[in-house]
Amino acid sequence: MTQREQWGSRLGFILAAVGSAIGLGNIWRFPYMAYENGGGAFLIPYLFAMLTAGIPFMILEFTLGHRFRGSAPKALASIGRRWEWLGWIQVMVATTIAVYYVAVVGWTISYTGFALSGAWGEDPKAFFFGEFLGLTSGALELGSLRPTILGAVALAWAVTWLACVSGVRAGIERAGKVLMPVLFLLVLVFTLRVVWLDGAAQGVNWLFTPDFSRLTDYRVWVAAYGQIFFTLSVGFAIMIAYSSYLPARSDINNNAFMTVFINCGFSMLAGVMIFSVLGYMAARQGVPLSEVAGGGVGLAFVTIPTAINLMPMPVFFGTLFFLSLTMAGMSSHISIVEACISAFMDKFGWSRKTTATSLCLAGFVISSVFCLGGGLYVLDIVDHFANNLGILGVALAEIFLLSWLCRLEVVREHANSVSEFAVGAWWTICLRYLSVGILALLVVLNLYGDLTAPYGGYGSTELLAYGWTVIAACVLLGLALRATSGRPGFAVKHDASLRGES
Ligand code: ALA
Repeated sequence: MTQREQWGSRLGFILAAVGSAIGLGNIWRFPYMAYENGGGAFLIPYLFAMLTAGIPFMILEFTLGHRFRGSAPKALASIGRRWEWLGWIQVMVATTIAVYYVAVVGWTISYTGFALSGAWGEDPKAFFFGEFLGLTSGALELGSLRPTILGAVALAWAVTWLACVSGVRAGIERAGKVLMPVLFLLVLVFTLRVVWLDGAAQGVNWLFTPDFSRLTDYRVWVAAYGQIFFTLSVGFAIMIAYSSYLPARSDINNNAFMTVFINCGFSMLAGVMIFSVLGYMAARQGVPLSEVAGGGVGLAFVTIPTAINLMPMPVFFGTLFFLSLTMAGMSSHISIVEACISAFMDKFGWSRKTTATSLCLAGFVISSVFCLGGGLYVLDIVDHFANNLGILGVALAEIFLLSWLCRLEVVREHANSVSEFAVGAWWTICLRYLSVGILALLVVLNLYGDLTAPYGGYGSTELLAYGWTVIAACVLLGLALRATSGRPGFAVKHDASLRGES
């Protein structure tokens, strides 16, 4: 049996894990989530979710990968073959995210080019929805392929393929070592410049001024927990795969704390950056900030270009901003795809080259749906279902399995035995009670919400076609992959101690 690949250094692993965590979710999702959910008051549930779910989950996933030296299906099958299905559903959720996430990365690549030529002109909204996306009238009218977007998406897949096919050390680790420092530098330069613009302070104040009345609204807590799982890349196979490449003598707890703190600190920085720009824009236009801030994709692709038009040196700022988004998005996409590649390599014993090439090609073909005129609608629906039901659902199943059907203490002992510092009983309590309880509540509330009120005002046919069907496909494909016989030796080393049978 060939030796499992390994990270070349601790720094390489941390940069790769941070590269996975820091993504589009930090730069445009965090600021508008905070904005929509009570400004500064959002930070309370956000930090609470980070401490009670984010850090404990990161330690849990790092430990599973490290202990079983395998991707999510292999790690779960090693606990007991009957749990392998859960790993595969996680991989299918990751695959779903990979195929639409790359479309947004394709937009950021295109916009980096547009920033250089000022292509969005005086009306960024008309440019984005009309000229660029060629948006159709609804999700059932898919329209034609947009060649610019398709080309950019192909480029993003090619970069991901190159990183993954080159292997853990020569590809993924190297990509993290280049992308992360450059990203930090770009965002720092951008932020240090924009905080001095007129009105920037008001923008930042506005983001961080708490509206405590929002804390009684359960949706604010739902948003905070959802954001933590997405932003930390936990619960959907990624961190298990990444930590499976750790050498035997590796710290777990400290690495997990560092990954979480760097990611969440970066989100705060991104919040300051975005709201400085919005504050400046509001001041220039003489309107209240609430009139310039927009949510969703509009924030990155309409509001920011509009603000950049008003700024000194728009080419410089525009390029810096979209290049940052591209770097952040690329490193996350590489990790999402690697979570899938490692699962197929583990189970079927395929070579890295065959697996990476076939998955990236298949992924590109599926991604082309998001390059159609109606792609934005499909993306919006798939994203909603993948996040609200997909990630949270599989994260709940994982934590329920580990904390109620297995001996979570064994996981803690393993993590503590290799780490620079130990975590105490709080870790078990956070996972077994708080995380399970809160995740179960979130999944029920989201399910209820989606069944009673159609998401985003879409019709039931659209939601059925692109939302419920995608979730059902993830489950069915996951089960089918579990039922397929893999190579001999896949997860033969069952861990009875975790199941309390030793
Ligand atoms: N963690 C990645 C992000 O925030 C997926 O974009």
